[in-house]
Amino acid sequence: MMSPCPPGERPNGARSREPRPPVFREEPLSADLVIASNRGPLSLVRDEDGRLVSGHAAGGLAPSLARALEGRSAVWVAAAMSTAEHEAAARHLPIETDGGVQVRLVEVSPETFGAAYRVVANGTLWFLYHGMFDRVYRPVFDRHFYEAWDGYRSYNESFVDVIEQVAADGATVVVNDYHLALVGSALAARRPDLRTVHFAHTPFCSPEELAVLPRSVATELIDGLSSFGVVGFHTERWVEAFRRCTTALDVDAPRLVAIPLGVDAAELHRRSESHETAKRRDELISRLEGRKYVFRSDRVEPSKNVVRGFLAFEEVLEGDAALRENVVFGARLYPSREELPEYLAYRSAIERAAQRINNRFATGSFTPIELEIADDLDASLVGLSVADVILVNPLRDGMNLVAKEGPIVNQKNGVLILSTEAGAFEQLGEESLAVEPYDVHGTAAALRRALELPASERRARAARLSTLASVRPPTEWLTEVVASAKRAKPAGSG
Ligand code: G6P
Repeated sequence: MMSPCPPGERPNGARSREPRPPVFREEPLSADLVIASNRGPLSLVRDEDGRLVSGHAAGGLAPSLARALEGRSAVWVAAAMSTAEHEAAARHLPIETDGGVQVRLVEVSPETFGAAYRVVANGTLWFLYHGMFDRVYRPVFDRHFYEAWDGYRSYNESFVDVIEQVAADGATVVVNDYHLALVGSALAARRPDLRTVHFAHTPFCSPEELAVLPRSVATELIDGLSSFGVVGFHTERWVEAFRRCTTALDVDAPRLVAIPLGVDAAELHRRSESHETAKRRDELISRLEGRKYVFRSDRVEPSKNVVRGFLAFEEVLEGDAALRENVVFGARLYPSREELPEYLAYRSAIERAAQRINNRFATGSFTPIELEIADDLDASLVGLSVADVILVNPLRDGMNLVAKEGPIVNQKNGVLILSTEAGAFEQLGEESLAVEPYDVHGTAAALRRALELPASERRARAARLSTLASVRPPTEWLTEVVASAKRAKPAGSG
């Protein structure tokens, strides 16, 4: 499953491969395993000659799951987004990806999609689950929100219609993420034979945070999720948060599981040792001229806490003249959700902070922060592989696979600085240097400590981290998720 592209950590876009015409199956499919997610594993566009071609496979959750599905007989149900995808969806036939995965696209009108994706899923649920509402200005549940909530319902219904068609009798349906919280209740009513799982690649909020939602919406949400046979998260901590929300609203919790995803070490090594990556690595090493390298790779995403990371680095430079000019902070970020004003504003805040710190400390031959915002997965692998220190300091994160990819590809016994609020902390916390995400001063101290850690300790930590990071790679993870569904009672059996 890995491109270096964890279910949570990568951008909307781009994987490189030659576009080719999509391969439609000739007849509808009926599968024992159905995966559903908003964004699927392929994207369709019209090329310059007007031909329908399947372009890049989408990023985010999709590449991770796609590799786990290779060789399994499954159908993946995902939303049609581009005009070309809408045309393809109208044929009601599965399309086969390069990896042999069958994809059925769901037609949703642009208005409904916008309401569900932008207003509800990313503008509300994402902020709620990551604890990102400031509460002074947001959230605001006005008439527009209630209309969008209707749109979210109908978006979920459209998925139910397609899942119903492609799921064989008694099939297992694995529904991913917060875009599709309401699919479970309709499936339980209409297809009680199915085994259904909702797997959240995000964190979950506390009952106190959930209480910002209008009560009717919160109840519909928690009821909807609880109508699945199983609800899964990457860590016990988010399971517990969800359980507490069910109790607070007096809803019967379904079977709850924590199944932490690990990374596919062999695949990561293959990519990071390609000729092209090796060449770029050599270029970076020679550009650094022996300076230490702090590195991060993230989506441009408010929950990733990029600005505070820069502020902590600034404190390090401020307090230690000897380090100035001897350490570089590389930040490789991927554009994300640019249709949301909060994301555009956060991008500007990142750029401004980097610029300000560079203006303060740069000299003729040295720039302290090298910020790049582009879809460039290989550049991230290169950075992760030569980093002396890898900084992963999210405000809150479902898992955070960069924290696992880093130790696998790193060639310098790099030290991992990890937020206590990342799901990955449950597995990697002991071998990393822990930081509290809002504590900039504490993060600066962790950066200094990481830069000074004795070689023997770096080596020992790095070895243990890379073992822990590759526990339960994607294929095993999916097998466990499916098995958890089989152990639960069918969703409609009350
Ligand atoms: C992140 C989250 C995933 C989510 C994805 C959607 O990667 O961790 O849980 O599915 O975002 O991203 P998108 O680019 O489709 O909004």
